[in-house]
Parts: sequence; C-alpha cells; structure tokens
Amino acid sequence: MSGLVFAMALSACGHMEMKKETSLYERLGGKPAITAVVDDFIGNVAGDSRINGRFGSANIPRLKLMLVDQICAASGGPCTYSGRDMVSAHKGMNITDGEFGALVGDLVKSLDKFKVPEKEKGELLGALGGMKPQIVGL
Ligand code: HEM
Repeated sequence: MSGLVFAMALSACGHMEMKKETSLYERLGGKPAITAVVDDFIGNVAGDSRINGRFGSANIPRLKLMLVDQICAASGGPCTYSGRDMVSAHKGMNITDGEFGALVGDLVKSLDKFKVPEKEKGELLGALGGMKPQIVGL
C-alpha cells in the first residue's frame, strides 16, 4: 500500500471510530439510572400478586445488586456480574411463560416511568428476552 493510501485508510478508521455508537449502558444513563430503574422494578414485582410469592424467601438487597451488575455488564458497562448463572439461579422453580411475561411487564412499567426511549428499551428487553430459555420451565 502506498503511504498516501495507508494514511487515507487510517483516517477512515479514525472517522469510523468517532462515529461509533455509544454503549447501551451509556445511553441508559449509566449505573445511577440502571439502579433507579431496578429499585422501581423490584417495587413493582413486590406489588405484583402474579409473581411476588416467588420472592418470599429471596434476599432482595442482593437481588437488586445482582440485577444492576447483570444489566450493567450486559449493556456494555464496566461491571462484572458475580451472581449465579441464570440456569442455576432459577432451576427447580418451574417458572412459567406467564410469570416471565409478568416480570418483564413490571420492568417495562419502570422503563416507561423513567422515560427510557423505545430504542434503548427494545435493546435491553431483547438482551433479557434472550435469557428466557435459561429461566423458564426449569
Ligand atoms: C429476564 C428475566 C430474569 C432475569 C434477568 C433474572 C435475574 C436474576 C438474578 C440476577 C438473580 C440473582 C442470582 C443470584 O443471586 O446469584 C435471580 C434470582 C432469582 N430470580 Fe430471577 N431473573 C429473571 C426472571 C425471573 C422470573 C420470571 C422469576 C419468577 C417469577 C424469577 C425469580 C427469581 C428468584 C425467586 C430468585 C432467587 C432470589 C434469592 O434466592 O435470593 N426470576 N434472578
């Protein structure tokens, strides 16, 4: 490659990098925003008689911390999820499709309350929806 072509290729790369989209984590508003959504979401779950019985003996403070780290890590943020994998965490519960849908609905309420835009909402729900086979019917 000639020096000129190489320089042009380099500058094209630099240009692409500048236009690179920010991570979902950043677009959600980082850890403070994720923490606020998770707090509100767990409040919704606590008031949701379709599923709150499932959390009777749950360690709620830990669950909140784990969810924040999981969402932070899954959205490209600087967090490490240190909890159980989704199969281990939900095995033996035989969680139904309906219960999964109820929980997602409770999360959507919080995302809407905090005015998370449709695009970011869709990306986050897509990531969580992908975990469904590791959570439902085990
Ligand atoms: C995308 C959906 C879901 C995600 C991302 C998720 C995530 C998690 C996480 C991160 C934990 C903590 C694991 C740990 O402590 O190591 C957990 C635990 C748990 N999840 Fe889920 N979960 C989902 C759906 C559900 C559903 C639908 C139910 C029931 C209706 C449920 C019930 C529970 C319970 C009872 C625990 C145990 C809490 C405890 O023992 O302290 N989860 N989940």
